[in-house]
Amino acid sequence: MSVDLYKPGLEGVPAAKSSISYIDGTQGILEYRGIRIEDLAQNSSFLETAYLLIWGELPSQTELEAFEHDIRYHRRIKYRIRDMMKCFPESGHPMDALQASAAALGLFYSRRALDDPIYIRNAVIRLLAKIPTMVAAFQLIRKGNDPVQPRDDLSYAANFLYMLREQEPDPLAAHVFDVCLMLHAEHSINASTFSAMVTSSTLTDPYAVIASAVGTLGGPLHGGANEEVIEMLEEIGAVENAAAYLDNCIRQKRKIMGFGHRVYKVKDPRANILQDLAEQMFDRFGGDRYYEIAVELERLVEDRLGEKGIYANVDFYSGLVYRKLGIPTDLFTPLFAIARVAGWLAHWKEQLNENRIFRPTQIYVGQRDRVFVPRDKR
Ligand code: SDX
Repeated sequence: MSVDLYKPGLEGVPAAKSSISYIDGTQGILEYRGIRIEDLAQNSSFLETAYLLIWGELPSQTELEAFEHDIRYHRRIKYRIRDMMKCFPESGHPMDALQASAAALGLFYSRRALDDPIYIRNAVIRLLAKIPTMVAAFQLIRKGNDPVQPRDDLSYAANFLYMLREQEPDPLAAHVFDVCLMLHAEHSINASTFSAMVTSSTLTDPYAVIASAVGTLGGPLHGGANEEVIEMLEEIGAVENAAAYLDNCIRQKRKIMGFGHRVYKVKDPRANILQDLAEQMFDRFGGDRYYEIAVELERLVEDRLGEKGIYANVDFYSGLVYRKLGIPTDLFTPLFAIARVAGWLAHWKEQLNENRIFRPTQIYVGQRDRVFVPRDKR
């Protein structure tokens, strides 16, 4: 077995062939099924983009209307899922509640027919439709309120914001959130998508696949970074403190949240779009003092760590957009999950064609042929 194939964190190790998204980390290019993320963000919608990712082509008007209709029809969740959420501790993290609820969905749809396109479409519809409702439901239940029923007359993004606050969102807020969902929908074989693929490869049900991916996304080195960025900006407190904060992190070899990427060695193209969305929100709804701190920190990191290829990633500005949308910090990563369900499902569906279980090898570095020492002799 060739030892030099081993790379910590599987860095640079191709784990699959895929045609879903393409990333050029040195040029800062991201394409979904060959279409630049900037074009989609400008012209598409989250559900249209989800359709593109999962079935490989942009839907016709009729296909999109049918897809949107089916998603609206399946937005509600079983009362038993809501009752289960009422047993969760209020202090629990919404990502843990989402992981448990996504797995529980599988209890209601236990029939598996992975070779049936209708089964696959139904699973895609149910998960895309119900995940936002479950995120919003736990948020209200943990505050002792009844969950808000989804509204069929609102778009995907507007309905989620409505369920959080029982108030129709401003059209700009709904549009900005929809773009955020598109930007977070897919990103080749990141850690949570890799989890989804490993789980998919055992031919288990898609609900277990999504629950596995949600668990992975929650970590601070992955999807959890957007929540940590806001805490970091809070800790910095003022523009003039940014340089000392950064020097301290560098001295302590602490990672700066929202920066660095396994693939991008330039600014994440999604960070550029999110920064623009943040500025649109500030122009309309008023500024955020954290933004000036963020811009200064980004300048300093680029100055001090740019030659190491460390630049702002998708998580650096997303939290500032969500803050302006009035979304609580501990929901930032669940928002990432809502969007990434599209990418996870796209890889799940693509993976089914492989039909080969993930089972890598290892380089054993432990001891061999040891003798068992009886308890009274140890
Ligand atoms: C996402 O993979 C994806 O596509 C993920 C994602 C997606 O859409 O799915 O893009 C979403 O997860 C974005 C990343 C969010 N996480 C963070 O912002 C947390 C902070 N970032 C780091 O933890 C880190 O940059 C990673 C985890 C994102 C990438 O880590 P790598 O590729 O394993 O890099 P590394 O830890 O091996 O670091 C290489 C060098 C080290 O320096 P040296 O020891 O070689 O001197 O770069 C340094 C690191 O110390 N470094 C950082 C840094 N990130 C890397 N130094 C300071 N701050 C950072 N953020």
